[in-house]
Parts: sequence; structure tokens; C-alpha cells
Amino acid sequence: MHMTTGDDGLQSARKARADRLLPRAAQILAGSVILGQLAFLVFILAFYYPATLTGDFAAWNDKPLITGYRQGDASGNLAFAGHVLFAALITGSGMVQLLPVVRRRWPVLHRWSGRIFAMAAGLLALGGLGLVWLRGTYLNIPGALGISFNAIAILTCLAFAWTLARRRDFAGHRRWALRLFAVASAVWFMRVGYMAWGLSTGGAGVGDAMDGPFDMFIAFGNTLVPLLTVECYLRADASRQPVARRAAGAALLLGALVVLAGSAGAWMAMWGPYL
Ligand code: HEM
Repeated sequence: MHMTTGDDGLQSARKARADRLLPRAAQILAGSVILGQLAFLVFILAFYYPATLTGDFAAWNDKPLITGYRQGDASGNLAFAGHVLFAALITGSGMVQLLPVVRRRWPVLHRWSGRIFAMAAGLLALGGLGLVWLRGTYLNIPGALGISFNAIAILTCLAFAWTLARRRDFAGHRRWALRLFAVASAVWFMRVGYMAWGLSTGGAGVGDAMDGPFDMFIAFGNTLVPLLTVECYLRADASRQPVARRAAGAALLLGALVVLAGSAGAWMAMWGPYL
């Protein structure tokens, strides 16, 4: 078909817009994740830090928990105390890692925050496994297996991200660090996911003892949904196919909507009421 210069101009303007969609959508999703994790961080710092740092462990149970504080269980209570203290460190340092301005302008901060993130990820994964399998903190076996799968995913991504950074393979490091961020966000994403699902379906498939079909899905989906989102971004970003790039961009925008709605819901129902 013969095309006029005007058509050419229109075509290239459309192409340019399609090319910009994916990086823009990735930025919007990252911004939404930062906001949602900020809400989680504020909750952890305001609810758990005062009680934990003053030794008033019993105050943890002001919020519904599976085990939380248990009288006479010194090692279990200490493990929980360490867990919530490191939860704020991983959430705060993860947000710093996600900011491109830090990577560009303050590489030393990026490296130190990365070390804190890596250490917290390793300790939370191993400590979390201890809380589940030694302390017995779980509601049902699929839930226990799902969160254990998350711990293994964290340790695997951590090993790759760390090794590639040491080998100075920064392209490979970036890919594995993004995967690590995704799987290390699973605990936060599970809360956000429940709220987004509840807001959009009224809580279909959520069981009274977290044993419904949606609970089974999110037990593993908390790791797999963020991981697949990152994977979809990485593949589309490396692809030259406009359709793939556009579809991925649209999926990331949908993800941003889920994160914003779910985080607002989590703040209103799960975090804010306990502050
Ligand atoms: C890596 C990021 C993680 C973060 C940010 C995190 C954060 C938290 C927070 C804030 C709590 C307090 C419960 C609440 O108020 O909702 C908690 C409890 C807990 N976490 Fe994690 N966690 C992480 C990873 C893990 C992993 C990998 C496991 C298991 C393998 C795990 C197992 C647990 C258990 C068993 C509890 C106790 C729940 C209860 O007693 O009700 N966590 N975590």
C-alpha cells in the first residue's frame, strides 16, 4: 500500500508511543510498589518496633496472629522479634534499591542498601522456615508449603544475584536482583493480593480458616505472581516485537492498579486499625 508522508509520521508517532509504554508502565508499577511497601513499612515500624525494642512482646498479640507472642516460649518469641525487626530492614532497603536515582547518583548507597537487603532476605527466609517448621506457626499444610517455597525462591535468587554481582556481571545481576525483589515481596504481596481480590470479588473462594480455593492459589501465587510479572517485563524489554511489548506494558499497568487498590485496602483493614 502506498503511504503518504503524513501516514509515515502517524506510524512513527504510534510506534514511539508503543515503545514508551513498557518503560513508562514499569515506572508506574515500581512507583505503586514503593507506595504500597511504604505503607507496610510504616505499619511495621509503628506497631512492632516500639513493643519489640522495649521488650513488651505480649503487645504483638493486640493484632490477630497465628502464634505471635507465646508465654514460656523464649526462643520462639526471640525468633519472632528478630523476624519483625528484619522485616522493616528488608522493606526499607528494597524500596531504596528500586529507585533509579539511587543507582545512578549514589552507587555506594545502592551497594550498602543491597547488602542490607541481601542479609535481611537470607535471615528472614531461614528464620521464617524456623518459625513455620520448628515453632509450628501455620494454619494448614498448603500454607506452610507455600511460604516454604517462598523461602527457597528467596535463597535461590539471592545466591544468583550475589554471585553475579561479585563476578561484575551487572546485566545478569540486575535480572536476578529484580527476581529476588519480586519473591522477597511475597509476604507483602499476599496481603495486598487478598485485599485487591476482596475488593473486586467480595472475597470469593476465601475460606474461614484460609483454606478456600483462593487461599490455596495465593499460598504459592504470592511468590509466583510477582515473579511472573518481573519475568514478563524482562522478556518484553529484551523483545523487539511491538505486540509483546505492548501486551506486557498493559499487564504491568493492570499490576499497578492491583497494587494501589490492594495497598489502600490493606492499610485500611490490616495495618491502619492497629496503630
Ligand atoms: C522476606 C520478607 C518477609 C517479610 C517482610 C516478613 C514480614 C513479616 C511480618 C511483618 C510478620 C508479622 C505478622 C503480621 O503482622 O502480619 C511476619 C510473621 C511471620 N512470618 Fe514473615 N516475613 C518475610 C518472610 C517470611 C518467610 C520466607 C517465612 C517462612 C518461610 C515467614 C514466616 C513468618 C511466620 C511463620 C510469621 C508468624 C506469623 C504469626 O505468628 O501469625 N516470613 N513476617
